[in-house]
Amino acid sequence: MEIDGSTTIVGVIGYPIAHSLSPRMHNAAIQTWGINWCYLPFQVTPESLEKAIEGMRGFGIRGLNVTVPHKQAVMRFLDWVSPEASAIGAVNTILNEEGRLSGYNTDVEGILAALRFGAGLENLPEKVVVVGAGGAARGIVYALTTVTDVKHITILNRTIWKAERLAAEMEKMAKEKTEIAGKELDGETVRDELREAGPGGCETAHGAGLVINATPVGMYPDVDCSPIEDPSAFHPRLVVYDTIYNPEETRLMRLARSRGARSLNGLNMLVYQGAKSLEIWTGRKAPVDVMREAVMS
Ligand SMILES: NC(=O)c1ccc[n+]([C@@H]2O[C@H](COP(=O)([O-])OP(=O)(O)OC[C@H]3O[C@@H](n4cnc5c(N)ncnc54)[C@H](OP(=O)(O)O)[C@@H]3O)[C@@H](O)[C@H]2O)c1
Repeated sequence: MEIDGSTTIVGVIGYPIAHSLSPRMHNAAIQTWGINWCYLPFQVTPESLEKAIEGMRGFGIRGLNVTVPHKQAVMRFLDWVSPEASAIGAVNTILNEEGRLSGYNTDVEGILAALRFGAGLENLPEKVVVVGAGGAARGIVYALTTVTDVKHITILNRTIWKAERLAAEMEKMAKEKTEIAGKELDGETVRDELREAGPGGCETAHGAGLVINATPVGMYPDVDCSPIEDPSAFHPRLVVYDTIYNPEETRLMRLARSRGARSLNGLNMLVYQGAKSLEIWTGRKAPVDVMREAVMS
């Protein structure tokens, strides 16, 4: 990669940012294409967010990914926000077209592609349990409401009012008819929500076919924790998707696997959301396999 006067800059802003895998992933794609682009990490404190966004216009930075803690706060500095990103209340991708900044949320595409292509779930189950009610959960619940197969979503969260609020908000805006409940993340509720599916393998209104962890519980360095600790909650017809990708196998995934459930980590979600961002900036189909290999190496 040779940087010169006509290099196009893209990158990611967050605080902290040193741990981000995005530069490696995006630069691998850029190198494969052989284009004169470069993807850089920018550490931006909450106090300097507005200046950073002005800087994006000033420096003519073509695109930025936005990560914790700026996904919500950045919205007010943009000229346009996609309907999807407004519904979720968070932007993770900014496109700069001659100083006009547009905000998108590619986590929706990320989770759906990870489930379809990464996990091979052609059809999603009728009932899905999402653990967590923060920023990632918002995008995931919104994404699930766009899938016709999904009829019931339960949001389980440590702080129950956040689960209830998110459920009410998302149910109101769901285009497809989706029933969404918010409940507390406790042992009994978990067992009840994950109860084994009905006869013939079809999920009943009661038994979830898919559980998605959207909390940081179990993420490095706290690898001995899991948001669901009781292995008896899992069963062989369940798919467990952990949005965490470090470690490669979380305690949650291990517990689920010990009871015969299929479990996957969040690497594909990261890759597919990144691929979509790159497509927004370049207008080209992103090399997903190259990007996946780059973050796995
Ligand atoms: N794979 C990907 O591409 C991708 C993308 C985005 C996010 N993620 C993952 O998603 C995680 C959450 O991100 P976020 O932006 O949603 O964070 P966030 O907005 O801070 O939300 C964190 C959520 O986790 C819950 N939580 C935190 N600590 C907990 C604990 N000790 N026990 C039980 N619940 C706990 C919080 O519950 P309370 O409401 O009770 O505080 C909240 O619901 C990240 O850490 C990352 O691993 C992955």
